[in-house]
Amino acid sequence: MADASVHTPVSKVVIPVAGLGTRFLPATKTIPKVLLPVVDRPALEYIVEEASRAGLDDVLLVIGRGQDSVLDHFDRRPELEAALEAKGDKARLDAVRHSAELATMHAVRQDEPRGLGHAVLCAQRHVGRESFAVQLGDDMIDPRDPLLPAMLDVQRRYGGVVLGLIEVPSEHIHRYGCVAATPTGETFDGYSAINVSALVEKPTAEQAPSNLAIIGRYVLPPEVFDAIRATPPGAGGEIQLTDAIARLLYDGMPVHGVIFTGRRYDTGDRSDYLKAVVQLAVERDDLGPEFRAWLSEFVRAQ
Ligand code: G1P
Repeated sequence: MADASVHTPVSKVVIPVAGLGTRFLPATKTIPKVLLPVVDRPALEYIVEEASRAGLDDVLLVIGRGQDSVLDHFDRRPELEAALEAKGDKARLDAVRHSAELATMHAVRQDEPRGLGHAVLCAQRHVGRESFAVQLGDDMIDPRDPLLPAMLDVQRRYGGVVLGLIEVPSEHIHRYGCVAATPTGETFDGYSAINVSALVEKPTAEQAPSNLAIIGRYVLPPEVFDAIRATPPGAGGEIQLTDAIARLLYDGMPVHGVIFTGRRYDTGDRSDYLKAVVQLAVERDDLGPEFRAWLSEFVRAQ
């Protein structure tokens, strides 16, 4: 396969947000899951901030019906800003403006949720013939341990596909896409880069070729769109991005992974979400000291 995308600089990121948020019902009956607050900011704001820090300042949100508020969060709110300005509330004014200053935001509709592969395919017209990144909203990466810059370096070096990976206990591998891999011997920002030789979506512990799980960070070449189109529904009856990447690999596209060992917060289910809120709250300069003291007391009393 021709690998025209090797030297294309990456500036666009696609963030699929159209999921139904089933695990958080009834909260997500009218509020999109990515707008649920993690402390006092929507989960998605952390994700877009991570992209912006990595130089990915063209963001395409793949949204579902009734989710226009997701895009609105990244717009200006002149009346609110004027009211805060009049009150001299500089801190809140900055916080409100912050989300509108992170990136140029775009949105496209996914008509029905047919899987992650299908959501990414909705981005084709916007992305065109460039390599691009994908971030999933459930994984928050701590800004002190950036992952995207290392993945973009690997993409510059090898082209093709680059996956964000973590090691998980084998009893958890069935929740993820899993890869078989060999080391490249190289590290990027301290994270090991590996050569991927096979991918399987949500394997059982017995089927899994390793304990390396795909987390919600990808760098993809534009060839992935044709691969998605050619991919039949897979695990869960959905069009899986993992299956489309396996197809690219089979056709000769280089596929690498970066094994992330930094701090990460999963907001995918209720229990992980609660942990993420507590972890981030105790580290905040404004809330942390008082909250940490209360939390220690609370735990002692249990
Ligand atoms: C998706 C991907 C899976 C990946 C996971 C990471 O699954 O299909 O390969 O490991 O995201 O969060 P989902 O969590 O949408 O079921």
